[in-house]
Amino acid sequence: MTGVDARPVVLRRLLPEPGTVTAIEALEGLALADLAADHRPYLVLNMVATADGAATVGHRTAPLSNPADRQLFGELRTHVDAVMVGAGTVRTERYGRLVRDPARRQRRVVRGLAPDPLAIVVSRRLTLTPDLPLLADPHSRVVVITASDAELSGCAADVSYLRPAPGEEVDLAVMLARLRTEHGVRSVLCEGGPTLNASLLPAGLVDELFLSIAPILAGSTGSRSIIEEAPLREPVGLHLVWLLESDSQLFARYTLRPQPA
Ligand SMILES: NC(=O)c1ccc[n+]([C@@H]2O[C@H](COP(=O)([O-])OP(=O)(O)OC[C@H]3O[C@@H](n4cnc5c(N)ncnc54)[C@H](OP(=O)(O)O)[C@@H]3O)[C@@H](O)[C@H]2O)c1
Repeated sequence: MTGVDARPVVLRRLLPEPGTVTAIEALEGLALADLAADHRPYLVLNMVATADGAATVGHRTAPLSNPADRQLFGELRTHVDAVMVGAGTVRTERYGRLVRDPARRQRRVVRGLAPDPLAIVVSRRLTLTPDLPLLADPHSRVVVITASDAELSGCAADVSYLRPAPGEEVDLAVMLARLRTEHGVRSVLCEGGPTLNASLLPAGLVDELFLSIAPILAGSTGSRSIIEEAPLREPVGLHLVWLLESDSQLFARYTLRPQPA
């Protein structure tokens, strides 16, 4: 999902006003950090699903993607202070350096961001091996959110830890607040997966959803939804901000309507 595509894909913008845009143009002026409240970073979730709601086919997301999807996925990473991901996704998708394309790193710098976003990995058991490309990459700065008191050894990446008090579980609201105060993080792009999403959503920590809808009916070849069983009091409503299309794949940007108290 992170490969560099040589030629910019032109997408159809269906909403708000019809037109054509590249991924770079579609996201220009996003300014997510400006939307952050004082107590935590602004958090956008970027997920892909089939038209019948599966988050994976053959336990991978690659069959759900297309060139426009890959370009939007990569360009979103050029707009945020940090990229957050659950340990399951890091392991399955073999995460590596988050922004490999020098042109994308340059776009980050022009926007006043560090060349590489901070990587935030959430893990309960801390069963991550140092050969994971992200941990083996000397350019990467990784903050691991975990209640485990173990340490990862042999990592070339710059790894630090954010832990709750001894004996306590990870509370993601507290951890996001600490990312703001201790690491200066104002905007977070969360790339899943479904288990992590199921903790973030009920806690009211998701501000927007970028949803890529693949023109596929997965049936039994697919699995899971983009949000594992989340303990919600009631369904969360969405407001459509814009809708793009490329090769029958739809790209929706939604803001979340907060649940009533
Ligand atoms: N469709 C999409 O857009 C999309 C996006 C991402 C991933 N995926 C797919 O989803 C699958 C992985 O699913 P997943 O649900 O296992 O992924 P995940 O949410 O990335 O990872 C789950 C793991 O993250 C850690 N974790 C999550 N929430 C936590 C919390 N509140 N506190 C402490 N640790 C927490 C735990 O790590 P430990 O196991 O280390 O304890 C947990 O086992 C893969 O097949 C991947 O391809 C799809």
